[in-house]
Amino acid sequence: MSPHVTVKVADGVCRIGIERPDKKNALDRAMYEALDKALAQAEADDTVGCILFTGVPGAFSAGNDIADFVAFAGSDRPMGELLDFLHTLAGIGKPMVAAVDGLAIGIGTTLLLHCDLVYSTPRSLFRTPFSDLGIVPEAASSLLGPLAMGHQRAFALLVMGETWDAAAAHEAGIVYAVSESAEADAVAAARKLAAKPREAVRIGRALLRTAPDTVRERIGLEADHFKERLRSREAQAAFAAFLKR
Ligand code: COA
Repeated sequence: MSPHVTVKVADGVCRIGIERPDKKNALDRAMYEALDKALAQAEADDTVGCILFTGVPGAFSAGNDIADFVAFAGSDRPMGELLDFLHTLAGIGKPMVAAVDGLAIGIGTTLLLHCDLVYSTPRSLFRTPFSDLGIVPEAASSLLGPLAMGHQRAFALLVMGETWDAAAAHEAGIVYAVSESAEADAVAAARKLAAKPREAVRIGRALLRTAPDTVRERIGLEADHFKERLRSREAQAAFAAFLKR
């Protein structure tokens, strides 16, 4: 299991920490495996009423590990761990909160679309450079993005690859609140949610969200394109350029 994913349960909140500071919290296969397991355990644990994602100072996540993208392209089961994680994520019924400080790139941003409340510090940056890397949106962001922010803003973020600061992400509706105390605010919100009647929160959340099967179907459609793109010359050139820096 990856040492870069930490799990702590307290006050009804399962806090899942992404902690790989030397790589700006880039997510590798072992981390997806650990995140998948942590989510499944949190969902099954009756003492948990809310799930909270946190990063490290300056980095929520720099996205998928680019070396793994290269490995995925030559793998028999490309993106296996990532897809397992995404399918579990789509099926979570408990409320999910995120505290973002700093970089939220690629899945560091698209993961947030599955969260019910996102708190961010002012210095955070949100970017999904899929097109520049020769790849396509993932994590059902092609479905959840336009629903959350409308087509044009979703296009600017997910296809054009614009970088948004916290104010722009807040204005687009993918960040709930911006403050220097984002993490403390996220913890307080998660505790508050965990203390509420669990079944009422679960049903209310489910009514507001797109059905898990629809989300999973979109994850599969994106993955078909993603796998083809990973092997493309465009993507291979972009990955090689990053790794050679
Ligand atoms: N995959 C693998 N390694 C990554 C990474 C990623 N997605 N993001 C950062 N790292 C690594 C860097 O290679 C570097 O490793 P090194 O110290 O062994 O050389 C370390 O993390 C620190 O990153 P660095 O680039 O030096 O920091 P920075 O502050 O100058 O820039 C980023 C940070 C995130 C802007 C830059 O690293 C970047 O663009 N990363 C790629 C982001 C990306 O495209 N993700 C995939 C989205 S789909």
